[in-house]
Amino acid sequence: MHSDLQWEAWADALAEHEYVVIDGYLPDDLLHLLESFFQQHQDALQQAKVGAWADRQEALKVRSDLTYWLDRQRDNALDPLFAWIETSLQRWNRLLYLSLSGYEFHLAYYPNGGHYSKHLDQFRGRNNRLISCVLYLNADWKPGDGGELQLYDPSGETPTERIQPLRNRMVFFRSDTVWHEVLPAHAPRKSLTGWLLYQPSGVGAVIGA
Ligand code: OGA
Ligand code: NI
Repeated sequence: MHSDLQWEAWADALAEHEYVVIDGYLPDDLLHLLESFFQQHQDALQQAKVGAWADRQEALKVRSDLTYWLDRQRDNALDPLFAWIETSLQRWNRLLYLSLSGYEFHLAYYPNGGHYSKHLDQFRGRNNRLISCVLYLNADWKPGDGGELQLYDPSGETPTERIQPLRNRMVFFRSDTVWHEVLPAHAPRKSLTGWLLYQPSGVGAVIGA
């Protein structure tokens, strides 16, 4: 669907700025498939865990999203989506000379007031996340609904771009260097969030989730 030239431009942007925002990322049929899957699994979403914070109240200060981890075998209704993700992964491998070889994704739901404090996506003891991917699923998002993705410069101190979580907008960014935060959502906020890995998921010691 997207041309080679288009992918090259995105790869250049990702290499240069460490992130790239792509609108209209998924073809309509895949977007609809994902949206209905999300709807069907709304009840299966669970409070996300945060690294060392076993304590739920402590974890909630850091992040308040509910997640549902996708499993290729169990969730084979999403096979066309997994194929699409793999195609993207191969594109980055070719264009950015990476050796990505796996991925892990979850559905994420931020209830009203939900947020995720500033962080990097590589955790201590678990550094195989190379590229973070967030695909937003908020059809009616409007200014004031909050839940923007706020990026920071490499120091992690200075805010840079603030990205609106618009339906079918994909953001790719480097997991190890790009500090980011989910600003408080004033309306429920949905996304498909994941990571492209340079080893299959499960090889690292899993402390984040
Ligand atoms: C994450 C994250 C960003 C977003 O789940 O690690 O930073 O916009 N998500 O949902
Ligand atoms: Ni993150």
